[in-house]
Amino acid sequence: MSKKPRLWISRFLSSSTMNKAKESYEVYLPEIDKPASKEEMIRLSSEVDAFLICHSEIIDSDLAQQLKPRLKIIANHSVGVDHCNLEALNSKGIVVTNTPDVLSDATAEISMLLLLGAARRAVEAQKIVREGRWDSWSPSFMVGKQVTSQRLGIIGMGRVGQAMARNARGFNMQIHYHNRKRLPQEQECEAVYHREIEELFKVSDFLSLHCPATKMTRDLINEKTIDLMPDDAVIVNAARGTLIDEEALISALISGKISGAGLDCFVKEPGGNPKFSKLKNVFMLPHIGSATAKTRDAMGFRALENLDAFFSGQNPVDQIF
Ligand code: DGY
Repeated sequence: MSKKPRLWISRFLSSSTMNKAKESYEVYLPEIDKPASKEEMIRLSSEVDAFLICHSEIIDSDLAQQLKPRLKIIANHSVGVDHCNLEALNSKGIVVTNTPDVLSDATAEISMLLLLGAARRAVEAQKIVREGRWDSWSPSFMVGKQVTSQRLGIIGMGRVGQAMARNARGFNMQIHYHNRKRLPQEQECEAVYHREIEELFKVSDFLSLHCPATKMTRDLINEKTIDLMPDDAVIVNAARGTLIDEEALISALISGKISGAGLDCFVKEPGGNPKFSKLKNVFMLPHIGSATAKTRDAMGFRALENLDAFFSGQNPVDQIF
């Protein structure tokens, strides 16, 4: 009987994923559910054939250089791969995969929650009821920004961006988008394409970010781009924290140029930016865009499918290079 490949799973994945993994792999697990240290990952790379990791495991260039030749593949349990230095892993011949598609609906759900929460002052409103301070009502009480029929700008019209557009159409929002490539007409569903990103900012009463974090997209939301936006706009981010220059957004939230922000991602994670916590017009969540039971199973299974393909001599469907 041929030996099962050895697989290190970095975090506690769904129980169905864990059970399935054990059918085909000799699985190594951490004792506690926390990100592994660099040293641990270097050591493990000499003991296992594959890593199944999350975005909490940072494989920078320095770590990638020190990974041992036994490690052949890193299957990410995430669609984002900005935590991996792809060039460095490529130069070592380590295959990298991710889990696109399966988390689009869950992430777009959270984006809609962020949008609604920021627009309708969910933080302030909930706090006042919870703290027993709701002692009056008037027509001028907790007046927010209407979502229905407003213009929604989407940056990054991939799978999650398109799922967000579908959700927003339920609110009769007018969809505008910027993407590297224009979508075919049948996928656009009448969304307005802006080749120049500046033009998109100008029409975005609401703006939702769905592009990957790269050198090109770092600080995409900054003082200049915020200035282009209509007054009172709302910004939503369930993609990656580094897309936003947080200081610029904080200033705009304080001045009122931006009336609200819905954020699931931060430059520093875990933890976030305590300056946002002081602002009542920020609706925040702790990077839980894909955190539904159904999606966690689907992410785990997709990562395992990529590993299965690799170990049976095929190209994994989500191989990044
Ligand atoms: C992703 O898949 O990139 C999500 O942010 C969760 O890691």
